[in-house]
Amino acid sequence: MARAKVVYSCTECGHSQPKWAGRCPGCGAWSTLVETIPEVSSSANPRFAGYAGAAGQSQAVPLGEIKAEHVARISTGLAELDRVLGSGLVKGSAVLIGGDPGIGKSTLLLQATAMLSGRIDTLYVTGEESVQQISLRARRMSADCSRVPVLAETALERIAAVAEQKKPEVLVIDSIQTVYTELLNSAPGSVSQVRECAARLVRLAKSHNVALFLVGHVTKEGALAGPRVLEHMVDTVLYFEGEAGSRFRVIRAVKNRFGATGELGVFAMTEGGLKEVKNPSAIFLSRQIDDSAGSAVCVIREGSRPLLIEVQALVDDSPLGNPRRVTVGMENNRLAMLLAVLHRHGGVPLAGQDVFINLVGGVRLAETAGDLAIIAAVLSSLKDRPLPRDWVIFGEIGLTGEVRPVPHGEERLREAAKHGFKRAIVPAANVPKKGIEGMEIVPVRTLQEALASL
Ligand code: TYD
Ligand code: MG
Repeated sequence: MARAKVVYSCTECGHSQPKWAGRCPGCGAWSTLVETIPEVSSSANPRFAGYAGAAGQSQAVPLGEIKAEHVARISTGLAELDRVLGSGLVKGSAVLIGGDPGIGKSTLLLQATAMLSGRIDTLYVTGEESVQQISLRARRMSADCSRVPVLAETALERIAAVAEQKKPEVLVIDSIQTVYTELLNSAPGSVSQVRECAARLVRLAKSHNVALFLVGHVTKEGALAGPRVLEHMVDTVLYFEGEAGSRFRVIRAVKNRFGATGELGVFAMTEGGLKEVKNPSAIFLSRQIDDSAGSAVCVIREGSRPLLIEVQALVDDSPLGNPRRVTVGMENNRLAMLLAVLHRHGGVPLAGQDVFINLVGGVRLAETAGDLAIIAAVLSSLKDRPLPRDWVIFGEIGLTGEVRPVPHGEERLREAAKHGFKRAIVPAANVPKKGIEGMEIVPVRTLQEALASL
């Protein structure tokens, strides 16, 4: 295919010129010029068909007059994946899956494609592994992959040709960083290649009503490699994460045009591929053998489901003039604030102590509902007195020392009761009128009341 004329345009200011330069003459930024295909706004250019070509006929329509088409959802056969996608895959949508190398992105998508292949046409394009490697992987997995059509190809034009011919309803590209278009000279994985290829694949998905999965690599800094524009181009961005050394994997939606974000799906990596974890609360509670001081159990909400997690604290005499406050899985400032409230309204001095907080199982605590549990864990470690194992604690703490209610209190309590917790210390406003069977609920209004009940 003949190479199109390319220009170098600045990712910061949009300035473009025919030659590359280290510094953008337009805005003065360094290393921002990337190779791009010039956008000629003519109706002859297929990229603009439907835009410039139909300029005269556009008109605005009141939202009420637009018939809401029912979006057909395809179940992937993996309930945990369906959940993060917003109850299934939407045709004509583009989903980006990011994650560290070796976390299981290829395994997950191969498994999902295997489940789908019996029902609908799929195509799994691999640029990372050979078909032999894929088939070896497929043999290890318990899912039946024999019907999955696999294509080992990295040239975008040839992938598009096969897709046009086979007309799959679900197309997987593993990974977007290996795909390149012949129109650009730069190497696969470069900003311009990734951006151009993703844009063309997304357009293909929209125009042919194909559900598209793009696998994206994550850089050391934790961002998706390639341009951030990748996240803007797609409808859904999922992150696949896991603790080093742990067999549990968590998939979460950070952007979703067809569902809620913050939803969480949990898998376990086994010999036979990924297994869904139906009851994730159990894995986030560390299975301690005997009672130990400095640990408290809290119910948080991830997306639409309550999750029991364990908060661990270690309080120790500090050799430093400026004691350390170290947190893993929560915000450092929140801990500083809680310790200040504990000192001012609870009379507990911690100025000479190092305080470490850890959330078991690699969970992230983004909710204020964990405040009370953190205070309980800190106190338990400070006094070296374990909390009873069947207690669960949640609630938000305000700067004036009040304990504030959190959303969905009853649902959290039910989840705790389901896992055998017998006593709950919760904000007074969160106590359900009818109570929870088999559970004693202790309402607290202020920090003092909470300390007294602990
Ligand atoms: P992979 O899907 O190749 O990761 P990614 O595509 O995100 O780079 O996952 C590879 C890892 O998963 C590898 O370390 C082996 C492990 N694995 C299993 O434990 N069981 C299995 O059945 C399979 C297929 C892989
Ligand atoms: Mg892979």
